[in-house]
Amino acid sequence: MDRRVGDLARVACAGSTVGLMKIEGRLALITGASSGIGAATAKAMAREGGRVLLLARTPSGLEQVAAEIKSKGGAAWVYPVDLSDAAAVERTGQSILKEAGVPDILINNAGAGRWLSVEETSPEETVQMMASPYFGAFYITRAFLSAMRQRDSGHIVNLTSPAGFVAWPDATAYTVARWAMRGFHEALRSDLHTTKIDVTLIVPGEVSSSYFANNPGGGEQLPGISKLYRTLTPEEVAEAIVRSVQRRKREVIIPPLLSLTLRMHRVWPGLVESALLRTAAGPAKKKL
Ligand SMILES: NC(=O)c1ccc[n+]([C@@H]2O[C@H](COP(=O)([O-])OP(=O)(O)OC[C@H]3O[C@@H](n4cnc5c(N)ncnc54)[C@H](OP(=O)(O)O)[C@@H]3O)[C@@H](O)[C@H]2O)c1
Repeated sequence: MDRRVGDLARVACAGSTVGLMKIEGRLALITGASSGIGAATAKAMAREGGRVLLLARTPSGLEQVAAEIKSKGGAAWVYPVDLSDAAAVERTGQSILKEAGVPDILINNAGAGRWLSVEETSPEETVQMMASPYFGAFYITRAFLSAMRQRDSGHIVNLTSPAGFVAWPDATAYTVARWAMRGFHEALRSDLHTTKIDVTLIVPGEVSSSYFANNPGGGEQLPGISKLYRTLTPEEVAEAIVRSVQRRKREVIIPPLLSLTLRMHRVWPGLVESALLRTAAGPAKKKL
């Protein structure tokens, strides 16, 4: 079926399970699966009957998530890896292809990074912040893309932050890495437009994960405008990811008020940027 006709049929079926992509029996690889959104997504995918491959650096965190999935009758395998290490990702990709096969669903979720201005960020840290999320997403996608193309099926999900749309004040390297994730998503959609491989961008607002524990001071640095948007749980984001795969969505921004704000930004960039900058908590406010 023509892809656009297929998409229209699926839209017509929205709300029912007819036309939804099935996750049951599919192999889903989730990066950053040792905690937060990634761990919740792995559990949600397993609940839908997906067989899950869990990647992150911390073996104990991955084992804990896998044990919970297996205790409920699910299938999970752990592959500890530092996604910023290209050679290690290549080796892990080869092991996965040999032991588990080609992932049907690839979720590029792993990411970290402190909110610092240019002057506060060392050259090493800016490289690190590009490595996780962006380089890691590139390396792991590269490990499977030719096999996905050969099979002409699959779904790649990329996560980014609202900072990937509107530059966050005094969080330069963090912001740039999130724009890189959005650019990666757009570029993949363009590269794969003649294939049956879907590509989705997920953009959650603030999420109550351990992210802010690894980003000291980040929570306090959120611009005042962010108080308009309720904090999401990792489980809510995981459900949105599952639905986006089932419905083969292009982009999902949650919560809905944030989605409205980012859509307004496309029409009136100055208005939204001014609201963000005027409520900025860091040094950017003093510069106004
Ligand atoms: N929390 C928020 O408010 C929020 C909002 C919008 C977008 N996001 C994005 O959502 C994603 C998940 O974040 P989260 O909130 O779930 O935070 P989190 O709980 O800190 O989870 C981050 C995950 O990424 C993994 N990771 C980080 N660097 C890695 C590396 N070099 N190699 C392999 N794995 C790595 C971590 O595992 P190990 O430490 O075990 O490696 C962990 O599993 C991130 O990309 C983040 O930018 C978060």
